[in-house]
Amino acid sequence: MADSSALDPRQRDALEALLLFYRDAGIDLAIEEAPVDRFAASAAEETARRSRPVSPEPATPSRSRPAALTGRGEAPRVEPARAAVAVSGEGAPPSPEAAVLAAREAAAAASTLDELRTALEAFEGCALKTTASRTVFEDGSRAARVMFVGEAPGREEDMEGRPFVGRSGQLLDRMLASIGLDRMANAYIANIIPWRPPGNRTPTPQEIAICEPFIRRQIELKAPDLLVCVGAPSTETLLGLKGITKVRGRLTTFRAGGRDIQAIATLHPAYLLRQPAAKRLAWRDMLTIGKVLGLPG
Ligand code: URA
Repeated sequence: MADSSALDPRQRDALEALLLFYRDAGIDLAIEEAPVDRFAASAAEETARRSRPVSPEPATPSRSRPAALTGRGEAPRVEPARAAVAVSGEGAPPSPEAAVLAAREAAAAASTLDELRTALEAFEGCALKTTASRTVFEDGSRAARVMFVGEAPGREEDMEGRPFVGRSGQLLDRMLASIGLDRMANAYIANIIPWRPPGNRTPTPQEIAICEPFIRRQIELKAPDLLVCVGAPSTETLLGLKGITKVRGRLTTFRAGGRDIQAIATLHPAYLLRQPAAKRLAWRDMLTIGKVLGLPG
């Protein structure tokens, strides 16, 4: 890489402006002299991840035996659903309607969380997958009674393949801890979108519609006692409620797999980082969550 100290001030300013332009466009990896095949690197990591031992998914969610999460475990291979195959591959990308149908079919065909993860990894109907490094499916304990669903992975989540590991995730961990929850022991976490939108832009309604069948099936298969929608996009998509500051903190229900699950919306930690005064509202929501779960508080 050229030594920028050899440049005159005008050239340095121009270079800095160019780098800022790239950063704002979502390009956040430096280019090196020699080409790096990052697909090969992530394939090797994925192979290593799959060969590590994993705690089995409980047949039915158990309250007394927290299971460490897969995310990092071996997932049984399943045949991708027919429609997913139909949209994967040759020629023009599928129409949004075809992609939504394919997503519904692929999600419905999965009968375990591992199968759903595999179906998602095989799904080619959402363009976000082509720019993301990883599919971010889940984190926490599959045996947890409470499931938190956020919006979409950011840069750190995309690099690690786990939801909520960046600054927002660290605040979410502190919010959980405030009522005695711990993501690896008794909380389960996912997003409505499993692939990072480039430059962390807001996912489009079309992208949300394509990914929605997968998160709905994930909730159904996880079957939590309480669903917590974290932030406005999750609340609007899953609960159909607009105006997060008004609807947060109210107990409602979410219909999944023929049963009603208790549900609540709360403020997104990214919002709380920007508006610390709103933390007192989130604190109230956490107390309600703790109460529903019967946590000592
Ligand atoms: N914000 C989200 O909504 N989800 C993540 O995983 C990270 C940040």
